[in-house]
Amino acid sequence: MRKVSNEMPIGIFDSGVGGLTVMKEIMKLLPEEDILYIGDTARVPYGTRSPETVSRYSLENARFLMSKGIKVLVVACNTSSAVSLALLREKFPVSVIGVVEPGARAAVERSILKRIAVIGTETTIKTGSYERAIREIDNSIEVSGIACPLFVPIIEEGWLEGDVVNLTVEKYLSSIRYNNVDTLVLGCTHYPMIKNVIEKFVQLPLIDSAVETAKEVKSVLEKKDILCKSKGEVSRNFFVSDSPEKFAYVGEKFLGHKILNILKIELGG
Ligand code: DGL
Repeated sequence: MRKVSNEMPIGIFDSGVGGLTVMKEIMKLLPEEDILYIGDTARVPYGTRSPETVSRYSLENARFLMSKGIKVLVVACNTSSAVSLALLREKFPVSVIGVVEPGARAAVERSILKRIAVIGTETTIKTGSYERAIREIDNSIEVSGIACPLFVPIIEEGWLEGDVVNLTVEKYLSSIRYNNVDTLVLGCTHYPMIKNVIEKFVQLPLIDSAVETAKEVKSVLEKKDILCKSKGEVSRNFFVSDSPEKFAYVGEKFLGHKILNILKIELGG
């Protein structure tokens, strides 16, 4: 097993392009860090699959990144974080950071009425992982979860504003208006892409798990004293299990940067 060092990259995985919203926040806070990113585009979406399948995929992604030598593992996918974080922490000898705990912590800090709503994929909501993480901090908080399965395909289609997204937001999120909720957690990698539409409709403070996770990554690297110290050229490499071209095309909108250095890999098997 390789010893963790300052110069090693941060490893990030997601089911596809969505985790690039997390990578974008990490790049903002930690611009000197090298990053390896896996988008498991051949097996996306994870959000409609069983916890067993998502855990198996997550293990395979993590194993691949570990074999490249990473200093910290970021599970950018909310669905993977919801079902497989404990398993990954048990299996791998690096710090494993998911998106659920940082998002939950920020929501607890923000909520005054102690009524929080969480939106995410079917599997994330079914597992109740955000609810558990929030209530572990303060069990007097009421948490309601709403699965919004259509958001992911609509966002990947590039419909970030207009009738389709407005109507879908209204359909899924109307109940929030009558529940005295005072904080809404965006519990899916894709949702920051339609943050403005959601915010305008619910008129509530939103917690962006991607932003909170980036802060957590920085704090872990600082605590372990493994921040990158060299000021050389920064490298960012991407691995995908399906077409690199499609990943680059859709992913650039999520990352807000050009995506180069994409390699197609086989996962699992
Ligand atoms: N990355 C997933 C998540 O954050 C959304 C896309 C999918 O279902 O795989 O839950």
